[in-house]
Amino acid sequence: MKIDSTVTLNNGVKMPQLGLGVWRSDNETAAQSVRFALANGYRAIDTAKQYGNEAGVGVGLKQGLAENGLNREDVFLTTKAFNGDAGYQSTLDAFNGQLERLQTSYVDLLIIHWPVNDKYIDTWRALETIYREGKARAIGVSNFDIHRMKDLMKHTSIKPVLNQMEFNPLEQETDIKEFCDENDILLEAWSPLGHGDTLKNPQIQKVADKYNKSTAQVIIRWELQRGVITIPKSTHEEYIKQNADVYDFELSDADVALIDSLDLDKRSLWYGVFKWSGNPDGVVDTVDEWDK
Ligand code: A2P
Repeated sequence: MKIDSTVTLNNGVKMPQLGLGVWRSDNETAAQSVRFALANGYRAIDTAKQYGNEAGVGVGLKQGLAENGLNREDVFLTTKAFNGDAGYQSTLDAFNGQLERLQTSYVDLLIIHWPVNDKYIDTWRALETIYREGKARAIGVSNFDIHRMKDLMKHTSIKPVLNQMEFNPLEQETDIKEFCDENDILLEAWSPLGHGDTLKNPQIQKVADKYNKSTAQVIIRWELQRGVITIPKSTHEEYIKQNADVYDFELSDADVALIDSLDLDKRSLWYGVFKWSGNPDGVVDTVDEWDK
């Protein structure tokens, strides 16, 4: 395993198992993080229209490719269809703007960000159109529970390649992982490092001390060994570097099992209260506010 090691999606496309996330970064910071990541060997970047930083990612990608002698095809770029655009035509129209901001003619992966009630099937049909037109090399979902995944698969013709869910040692989505495994759908982790409490977890710290690694590195390594795609976010070059330095050790089966045992199955806490139609509270589409 190394930083550009890939997993194969159910449509045959290969995707790096480790990438950079940019949630909660503004455009300028996202551009910088993407450049740091590409300089440090990362070959996958995950953004979303909802993050308001697609334009920054586009600039970072353009500069990072040039700085490192890379071509667009060397990097696997993911973005997401925005809640506020849910529906068939609105998703298609919005996607053109997303390509423009990202300064690319295609994305490698396009994901439905959240399953907006009554609209996610229409949104998915838009993703199918984009996929058939070759403007997305793969299409997937995010934050879909089993019920919604089944509903989507029953009413549409292309199966998602992956489901991006919150996943980290304290939140392991066991039922969704099992459903995905059975259906040849991969699980991708958002918030793969968890929140402060995960990085400071004393049991993970003990494992980290044993391998002379940081807790972040142990968590990322555990995700790779569990077969999960992981996209840790950092804005600091030092962390971006550190998070990719996970290929010179291997967790023992016992240590993987120990981290497996930390699951608190907290999903219901946020999943149940989320408003499934419209935008989550406080989310604004800031994409046009940055001078690209
Ligand atoms: P920052 O962005 O300030 O560098 P997640 O990917 O699970 O959402 O976690 C992201 C959070 O973890 C960010 O706040 C990020 O900080 C922090 N982080 C990323 N990498 C590391 C690391 N190696 N050590 C400590 N904190 C990290």
